[in-house]
Parts: sequence; structure tokens; C-alpha cells
Amino acid sequence: GDDGKGCGPGVSLSDLRRAPACSGPLPALKPTDSHTVLIRTDLLRPGKAPEPHPSPDQLQDRWDDTHVKLPCSEHNLFPTDRTDAILKYNMGQAKGWNFTALDSYYKVFSCVCVDEEAVFMSLCVQPIPLLRTQRCRSITLSQEQVSCLLANAFFCTFPQRNSHQTEFSNYPDINFSRLFEGSSQTKQEKLKTLLCYFRRVTQQRPTGLITYTRQCLQRLPSWSSSEKQFGKLHISCEGSIEDQGYGMLQVDFANRFVGGGVTGSGLVQEEIRFLINPELIVARLFTEALNDNECLIVTGAEQFSRYSGYSDSFRWEGDHDDQTPRDEWQRRCTEIVAIDALHYSQFLEQFRPENMSRELNKAFCGFVRPGVQPENLSAVATGNWGCGAFGGDKRLKAVLQMMAAAEAERDLMYFTFGDADLVKDVLHIHKLISDTHATVGSVFRLLLQYYECVCKKTTRSRPQKTLYSFLSDSAQPQKQTGSVITSSRVP
Ligand code: AR6
Repeated sequence: GDDGKGCGPGVSLSDLRRAPACSGPLPALKPTDSHTVLIRTDLLRPGKAPEPHPSPDQLQDRWDDTHVKLPCSEHNLFPTDRTDAILKYNMGQAKGWNFTALDSYYKVFSCVCVDEEAVFMSLCVQPIPLLRTQRCRSITLSQEQVSCLLANAFFCTFPQRNSHQTEFSNYPDINFSRLFEGSSQTKQEKLKTLLCYFRRVTQQRPTGLITYTRQCLQRLPSWSSSEKQFGKLHISCEGSIEDQGYGMLQVDFANRFVGGGVTGSGLVQEEIRFLINPELIVARLFTEALNDNECLIVTGAEQFSRYSGYSDSFRWEGDHDDQTPRDEWQRRCTEIVAIDALHYSQFLEQFRPENMSRELNKAFCGFVRPGVQPENLSAVATGNWGCGAFGGDKRLKAVLQMMAAAEAERDLMYFTFGDADLVKDVLHIHKLISDTHATVGSVFRLLLQYYECVCKKTTRSRPQKTLYSFLSDSAQPQKQTGSVITSSRVP
């Protein structure tokens, strides 16, 4: 039924599952070979700031290629005198940096500048492993530890992270140096948003935890032979992933370097999310660039700011009081998954079979939760993934995401971001799929046919026939043989 808002919904919004209501019980939080936990789990209590693990007098210093290199390390050769913090830390690079955007915020900046070094040594006592490519691994940190790491990122103190020639060339930038250059309004708004976060976490110690998980899939689905049926769909041209998608798996339209241009000049979906939930930014410290079979899942990041506008019109609108409930591990029930689409400059490229498979695998990797029962999986809250800065086709991506969600046995909440025609078109295709009991495999085979019969024969930059009219025509019931879109094993 209709929820009374916006244009055309598909199923009722209340039919879609959300965390924590749908979640199964969590196992006890404890460190394992593939899960580093930087706090004392035995002392974890709701509303109480977690204790670092191990205790500060057991500080472990690691300076190797599997751990984050911390500014407080004995091996860090850069000056540690904090008075001229940023410039002294970065003699080599600092000549080219300018701090115009920061200047107008200097007052706030100096309040944040407590004795960061001492705080660091007592909060981050255990080495932080890198989330390296093709390794499944999780890191659980307290929000307070994250704030300390972010303060260091703000002061640009992470060693060996300013030049792309170092061993960290396959990692995102973590030091905020590029944030401070230029005189645009959007830079001011970015700084307001981040300083709001620093003000909040220094005024009141945050008490929760956050888990960062790199998920890599070794076995990928065989798309053309999948017998999976499609799940439920709710689609709306109003609302956003972060607001109306609470408790669902929220998709970050990511760059393979997670966070994209958040510490530089980018300001679209991913960067905005990283600004209003700044704890996401710390993922840039340890997350190596994502490969095709990989994603990053962040559970527990809190929203600190409200905003209006988008891109050039983005404005900070003040504090956000995040009321999201916490799970047994004291994490906010906000699960965000970074999946990076491919960037297309030529429209037809995205219909190539290898590119469609790539996007299906990437979305599937983001959506699937091996070992979790389908009834414990929340719906996926997504939208025009890969269809803004990355130039993809919304109609193709909507079908690919429906397929990936079906394969992962999840329902889908799709936000079209104001596009009312897209609501109608996607609903039409979803109905066609449901009416014909199409499987993921049968739809994939139609996509391949579309490429062969339409895209390959096109001499212009756009196909003669649209994907959705091709799918509609193919689904017309045919006498004797039945509908082409129908699975060969109709119940
Ligand atoms: N909720 C729902 N839909 C949204 C929202 C939102 N909050 N914000 C935007 N959209 P884009 P991409 C819609 O361009 O193409 C970044 O720099 C809106 O229709 O951010 O995957 C990353 O770091 C918008 O046009 O994603 C990557 O480098 C569309 O989603 C790159 O951009 C796509 O948003 C990824 O670009």
C-alpha cells in the first residue's frame, strides 16, 4: 500500500525489516585472529566510556607493514613538539599547503587542540592492523579512540601519509591538509561540520563502539544460472538513505578509496555521509583501496550534524542528536556499506557483460552476510548508486541492485532522489519480474541478450531501444513456450 507520501511505493514501508527489531542475538564481543578489539570487553557498560585494551602502561609500539603507523611511535622521526603542530610535522610538504579555509576557524581549532599526544598514548595502546586487500578482517574501536585518531588526522600528524610514493600509496589520504586550502563556501561548510563533531566529542565523551569490517568474497555467484527469486521493493522519490533508511543496511556510493574526496574537495553522497557521520573518516586510516570482490562495512557510526543542499549548495545546519538505539556491543544500530561502482564515460560500456557482472558482484558483496538467517537481515537502503559522479544509468543500476539484493536474500528500499519517472519505471519492471516469477538468472540472461541484440548493434552513443522496453517486450507471454523472462522452473 501507499505510505501516503511521495510517488508510488511498491510494498508498504512497514513490510521492510530494520535493525535492531529484525536482528538476531550477537555473540559475545571478543578479539579473534581476524577481529581486533581495542577496548576492555569485560568492562563494557551502557553509558560508560569504554576502557582501552591493553592498559596504557602496556603500550605496544608496532612500526611494520601490517599496522597503522601512529604519530606517537618511537620510530616516528618527525618532530613531536605540538606548538606549531601542522607545519612542523610536515616540513617537506608544507611549502605547498595553504590554510585559508582554516584561518576563519582558528579559534575553534585552538580549543580542540588539547594535549593530543598525551591523550593518544592513553587511548590507542594496541597496534591497529591495516585492513589489507583480499583479507577479511574487523577492527572494533571506541568512539573516543576514533575521535582521537580523527583529531590527529585533522592536525595531519600521521607519518608517511602525505606522499603517494610511500607504502601507503594504495590507501586513501588521512591527513586533512587538503581540507584547509582554497576559499570556497563549501570548504567553510565542511569545516563547520567537522568542527561541530570535534566540539561535541570534546564536550561530552562518547560511550559507544564502532566496528569496521573488510569483507572479501572468494566465491561469487554464478549469475546466469541463479534460481533466486526477487524480494520486496519499496521505492520513493522522497527521503534519503540516511533519514528514512534508519535501521536498514545503508549504501555508501563509494570510491575505491573509501570516503572519496571528503578530506579534499568532493561533496556528493559519500562525502556528505562521511561529514555528518565523521567516524566513517577513520576508515581511511586503515582501509586499502577496494577491489572488485570487496567492500567495507561500518557498524555504529553516529550522526553528529544536520545539513541541507547537495554538492555546491551543501550547508551545515547544526547539531544532530542521534537517537539510534545501541546493540549489545554498544554500537549505534547504523550499518553502512561502502561499495564502489565503476566510473563510465561512455554510456554503452556499462552494458558489457563483464561490467554488469562486476557491478553485480560488488553489490552482492556489500549486501550478503554469510551465516546470517534471511529473517535477521534488514532491507537494503539504496538509490542511484554509481549514477551521479560515476555516470551510470539509473535504470540498469536499479535492476542490478535488485538482483544483488535477491541473491543476498534481502529486500530493497530504493530512494530515487526526486526522480518521479524512475519510481514509475522501476515499479513497472519489478511488477513484471514478480508477475512472471522471473529468477535472478533469467533476468541476467535477458541483460546479456540486450547487450548482444541491442547495444552491440548500436552505431550511436546510446542504444536504439531502452533496456526497460526490451525487458517489457521480452516478458510478453508467448504462446507454447511461455514468457522468456520466466524461469525454466516455474513453481
Ligand atoms: N540518499 C539517496 N540518494 C542520494 C543521496 C542520498 N543521501 N545523495 C545522492 N543521492 P554520487 P556515484 C543520489 O554521485 O555516481 C564520490 O566522490 C543522487 O541522485 O555521490 O556512485 C565518491 O567518493 C546522486 O546523483 O555517487 C565517488 O568518487 C546519486 O545518488 C563518486 O562520488 C549518485 O550519487 C561516486 O559517484
